[in-house]
Amino acid sequence: MTTAPSTFRVPLPDTLVELLGRKVIDLPAPGLEGGLLRGDVHMAYDRVRAESPEAQIVVHRCRDLLNDPHGDGFAVLEASPLLDRYGLDDGQKAATVLLSWLGVPLRAFDRWPLWKPLGTNLAIDPMRATGAGHNPLHIDVVNATEPPDYSALLCVRPDPRGEGYSIVSHLRRAVDRLSDDERALLAEPVFHDGAFYDLTGVGTEFDPFPVLDGLPPTKGFVRFTAKMLPGMDLDPHTSAVRALERELIAEQRTFRLGFGDLIVVNQHVCVHGREALGEGQEEVPKERRRLLWQMFLRAGEAVAR
Ligand SMILES: [Fe+2]
Repeated sequence: MTTAPSTFRVPLPDTLVELLGRKVIDLPAPGLEGGLLRGDVHMAYDRVRAESPEAQIVVHRCRDLLNDPHGDGFAVLEASPLLDRYGLDDGQKAATVLLSWLGVPLRAFDRWPLWKPLGTNLAIDPMRATGAGHNPLHIDVVNATEPPDYSALLCVRPDPRGEGYSIVSHLRRAVDRLSDDERALLAEPVFHDGAFYDLTGVGTEFDPFPVLDGLPPTKGFVRFTAKMLPGMDLDPHTSAVRALERELIAEQRTFRLGFGDLIVVNQHVCVHGREALGEGQEEVPKERRRLLWQMFLRAGEAVAR
């Protein structure tokens, strides 16, 4: 079943935007412990949700989009009023509060702040998150025993050249369309992807890993990244990964994140990526190129249905 493009968008009611604006100044800063939002901070943030019927409606809508087995596995929160009205600092904190209602904020990368800035760097491999080219479909931190449950990207500055469209696709439905033989090949632990260092809260390195771990979507992952394909030999395992990539591309959704759009992806069911940015990035000053902020969430009691 295909849903209309607008159904994954979640506007924030004005009353909720005002409430977050009133509360955000006095709420504690998002301090971390072991890479996760501290428990006392999380409780303070959750008290705001508990007193707001509008917040609870938004949270239910997001949980349905993210966790419903027949849903898309992602949501786009329209958070631009938070940045517009409260500025980038308090707006970022308000977005953290909002996300903490869906899961426990997780930094994962030791060397970066909770929100990792993803600017546009023309000097690196274009397929990387901060590159300017096509960033093919993948889940984040694919080579960990416990990849983040949710991956979130807040668009602070869209590509001024009008491109860099986001792409997402449903992993579980794509796997269902494969043959038994292809699924058997993908269940073998023979796949590799990149390095693993300076990470906290995502388990240990999983290398080699199986693409299919045989666990249900609430627990397991489809460890897919198209970024591993260029380094693979021509063999039946590679053919099976390519077959999965074909199915993902066949059903992928493409849309543009605008200023303040906050996409949240359930990594247990959904891959994400980015189409190439527009031509002529060299002529755009670095501080005006596309900028996203990235954060992860660990599913916890906060996401219990
Ligand atoms: Fe990613």
